[in-house]
Amino acid sequence: MSGRSIVILTGAGISKESGLDTFRDADGVWGRVSVEDVATLEGYRRDPAKVHAFYNAQRRLIESGDAPPNPAHLALARLEKEWPGDVTVVTQNIDDLHEQAGSSHILHMHGELRKGRCEACEGVFVWSGDMGTDSRCPACGRVGSVRPHIVWFGEVPLDMPKIFELLDRCSLFLSIGTSGNVYPAAGFVAHLRGKGVVRTVELNLEPSRGATLFHETIYGPASQIVPAFIDDLLASR
Ligand code: APR
Repeated sequence: MSGRSIVILTGAGISKESGLDTFRDADGVWGRVSVEDVATLEGYRRDPAKVHAFYNAQRRLIESGDAPPNPAHLALARLEKEWPGDVTVVTQNIDDLHEQAGSSHILHMHGELRKGRCEACEGVFVWSGDMGTDSRCPACGRVGSVRPHIVWFGEVPLDMPKIFELLDRCSLFLSIGTSGNVYPAAGFVAHLRGKGVVRTVELNLEPSRGATLFHETIYGPASQIVPAFIDDLLASR
């Protein structure tokens, strides 16, 4: 196993114990806010101020430092530093807790709260603080064309060619804190089943929709089960 590459898919569950809500748990975001209103281009066109307010609140929370990385994020950063092979986090999360924890090989397939995108010049840029319909693009100077750099439902996730290249050469695939409801991420484990020698492990609070597709499953709070798993993995390298 040592010296081989690892791909780690993460979802909202890894950030739950940092104080960020998941989407589909009983207390999740989609139980309070309509996906159509805040996570589709149509919703943004209909009411951009509402969509900006939704993401501004989340951006303020992660910028405040009141939702710090938890031991699960820190364990993945440690794995990247100590594993004798490539370790890449492919996250569905738009928070920057993996970055704050010290991971550096991260692909945000659903975009990032801390970035903006210009619909006029297609520039992508770091963004801190609130964003609104009166925001000016730092790249082209246009006002009103800045949107969250977030992949909404119906839009194409980011970095997919790179993600499949990494999946096709990894020897270990971990899926942490995701319900397996949203594709293409939910399909990664099925993609790997036909690939022979890849060990696939689900680490989650409860079985995801794809649980039966994994070689191994470990259930419990991420802040407990992820550090324990990473300790064992590093001890066995
Ligand atoms: N530790 C580990 N797992 C947890 C914890 C925890 N403390 N708390 C919750 N979970 C698990 C839940 O059991 C669930 O399986 O995290 C998962 C969260 O699932 P979702 O809320 O569906 O979040 P996610 O899978 O990341 O959603 C994928 O859907 O709405 C879109 O773009 C959004 O990226 C998101 C995508």
